[in-house]
Amino acid sequence: MPCLSYVEVISPLPSRRLLQNSASKQPYSGLFFFLGSLVILIILVVLILILCKFFKPGKLRALIGRTAKPQGTSDALSVHLRTISYFNFHTLKKATKNFHSNNLLGSGGFGPVFLGKLGDGQLIAVKKLSVDKSQQGEREFLAEVRLITSIQHKNLVRLLGCCSDGAQRLLVYEYMKNRSLDQILYGKSNIFLNWKARHQIILGIARGLQYLHEDSHIRIVHRDIKASNILLDDKFQPRIGDFGLARFFPEDQAYLSTAFAGTLGYTAPEYAIRGELTEKADIYSFGVLVLEIISCRKNTDLSLPSEMQYLPEYAWKLYERSRLIDLVDPKMREDGIVEKDVMQTIYVAFLCLQPHANSRPPMSEIVAMLIRNVAIVETPTRPAFLNRKRRNDKKLSWDTITDGFPSPLQSDSPSK
Ligand SMILES: Nc1ncnc2c1ncn2[C@@H]1O[C@H](COP(=O)(O)OP(=O)(O)O)[C@@H](O)[C@H]1O
Ligand SMILES: [Mg+2]
Repeated sequence: MPCLSYVEVISPLPSRRLLQNSASKQPYSGLFFFLGSLVILIILVVLILILCKFFKPGKLRALIGRTAKPQGTSDALSVHLRTISYFNFHTLKKATKNFHSNNLLGSGGFGPVFLGKLGDGQLIAVKKLSVDKSQQGEREFLAEVRLITSIQHKNLVRLLGCCSDGAQRLLVYEYMKNRSLDQILYGKSNIFLNWKARHQIILGIARGLQYLHEDSHIRIVHRDIKASNILLDDKFQPRIGDFGLARFFPEDQAYLSTAFAGTLGYTAPEYAIRGELTEKADIYSFGVLVLEIISCRKNTDLSLPSEMQYLPEYAWKLYERSRLIDLVDPKMREDGIVEKDVMQTIYVAFLCLQPHANSRPPMSEIVAMLIRNVAIVETPTRPAFLNRKRRNDKKLSWDTITDGFPSPLQSDSPSK
């Protein structure tokens, strides 16, 4: 078409003009480029001269090293910690008033815990891990923190963040206003918990353990279930603390550490004697804890008359005499209890205390029994407890470990 050919013919003209224009400007832009480069070069030379004048080469290397380290750390953090905060050591030092003894909340086998207050007023609990026992590098530490942080449940205490500074390893938890259950059961606290509150606490702990053992993406055996590791929020809802902490320590050391030796009254026989660790060891400790919550006393109390000193043993004696009601905290009895419910909860505890690990029901069954979805056995069976005659021996012995006491649950609901 004529029109088209016209376009084809005239179209090169403007572009040729454009080419001519840009060609005429080329010497100028070349000049600008040259001058710009020269200015940048001069600035760089001046900067290098200034640095050389004020810092000796050694100092300069140190300066570069210092700024490079946080870069490396933050790289590691971005890989390892996507969901939690990384706290600066200085921030935690300031929050806890330089880890002042007035702020010490307690000191367990994994290290001391301090109360802290952040700049925005938020209260935190800072756990300083005992590094001599942990022997863990920064990368491994961060990987473990990330793993623990990924385990979340309403009955587990929340890990807010961590800090790794030189050899120091610190964990930062949310602060639980009502502290730990041991303070209420046998500590200085004046708080009284009625049966409803205690049942809620028992059920919450059971649910937290069920999550750790059965529902979480990694199976976690807590290893240290005891009253001081049950924290209470402002509504007295329980949250299990210190879960996953054993991961920071070599396995054999965790088993032998004072944290466990100190809480022997909670330790399952197969774990205490042979170091055999499965979730069934937690279930045994849970059974001891349930008896403590109901009776409001420590599992071992040598100030009591001889037959009352060891709680599971005493509970069983009372059961045999049909006097189980005597185990119940007198204050709670006075306040009013649903006797049938309390008795059934004690029966559940007896099931958890079975000498053979496989006879203890899994946590999901325990939860079902506690919310009365599953009928509870009528006749509880004898729990395992330390042999009274030989308990002073260096080698521990459990009087029921070799005897068979079949769990009533074995026939209708095989445990895991
Ligand atoms: N997040 C927290 N909020 C409030 N109190 C806490 C918290 N974590 C720990 N504690 C208190 O600090 C005490 C010491 O804790 P820990 O070092 O874990 O020792 P343990 O658990 O062996 O008693 C606990 O018993 C509890 O009273
Ligand atoms: Mg603890």
